[in-house]
Amino acid sequence: MYLLPTTLLCFLLLSSTTVKAGTQTEGQSCDVNNNRLQIGTYQFWSDCDSQTYCTARGTCAKRGCRQDDFPFGYAPDDELPRKCPRGEFCPDEMSECQVLLPVGSECQLNRDDQCEAPPNFPELADDSDRGINFNGSVCLKNICMWANVTEGDTCIVENTFYIAYSADGEFPDIRSRGNCRLGLYCDGTSLKCLKEKATGDSCTADKECASWNCEPSGKCGIGADVPRRLAIWVYIVVGICIFGGMFGTLVGLFFWHSKQRDADREKRVQYWREQNAFHQNLMQMRETARASIISPNQNGISSARSTIYSRDGALSDESQAPIMQNAAPKASSGLRNYLTEDNSSDYEDGMMMQTTDRKNRF
Ligand SMILES: *[C@@H]1O[C@H](CO)[C@@H](O)[C@H](O)[C@H]1NC(C)=O
Ligand SMILES: *[C@@H]1O[C@H](CO)[C@@H](O)[C@H](O)[C@H]1NC(C)=O
Repeated sequence: MYLLPTTLLCFLLLSSTTVKAGTQTEGQSCDVNNNRLQIGTYQFWSDCDSQTYCTARGTCAKRGCRQDDFPFGYAPDDELPRKCPRGEFCPDEMSECQVLLPVGSECQLNRDDQCEAPPNFPELADDSDRGINFNGSVCLKNICMWANVTEGDTCIVENTFYIAYSADGEFPDIRSRGNCRLGLYCDGTSLKCLKEKATGDSCTADKECASWNCEPSGKCGIGADVPRRLAIWVYIVVGICIFGGMFGTLVGLFFWHSKQRDADREKRVQYWREQNAFHQNLMQMRETARASIISPNQNGISSARSTIYSRDGALSDESQAPIMQNAAPKASSGLRNYLTEDNSSDYEDGMMMQTTDRKNRF
């Protein structure tokens, strides 16, 4: 079983190195002595390609087992080798499933899962995803052990240097593992099992902290995977800000628009007054004209009309045109129609004519 960070590191490394496996295919020759772990990644490498392994006879043969659910180097419809059942493991070579190794036997680097569990495995097993041990056993310095050393007792520590990559280049990433019980770590200098440190205590490595996070400041921080919880007051303040912003905007807009509305209303009233005055004016003129025409000639009504039309056209041009220019074009045209429609007097035609006149001119 691999540590999660280790897997991540391997992934980073794989994306930067092209060599994943050898090039020899099934049936071609290979040399078992070329089997090795790659520098920096500790990834297993052999002469054979990603679907075969190098047999003791020196030829590449189909793999007999796999460790991953989705192994590298297989197409989606390829037949995959089997995964090993409980009580067995698949070695790095992926040749075939083997039974778990008893304590004290040789195992492969970081392969705690190759070792047989201790009798008191429920007590020793690490259920977290930190991968401190597998079912209570660890593989340290290629020997199967049980993670059963108690506080203050001598322990075995294994430091592995991985090459990690950042934007600034390579840097070493040291993984330190020991055979202490849960809640303890194997101190690198005294080689004794010590209690894991609480948040805020000084530390020199992640393994010393119960949270598995030694911050650059040299103090144990909270776990990197711990969800961040905010105090209730933060929710309240944010809520007030949101609703305050919403209502503030609404109220502000209401007042801003009410100013605009007042201005528009004022314009309309002014326009109506002018139109009214104009109308009164026309009525007066009509009266005077009628009075003056009727008295000398009673048959001249039609000619009188034409006179009125031409005259009120001239009048409107002089008196109303500047006002019309001031009014908003949209509002004034609408209002003009409204007023003309409303006007049921004899002068309806005259008003309409005037309107079209103006429309043509502007
Ligand atoms: C742990 O070991 C015990 C005893 O060998 C075994 O019964 C159990 O299935 C193991 N658990 C896991 C998760 O492998
Ligand atoms: C602890 O594990 C070791 C093997 O790593 C074993 O030899 C020893 O007996 C165990 N001790 C106890 C107290 O279980």
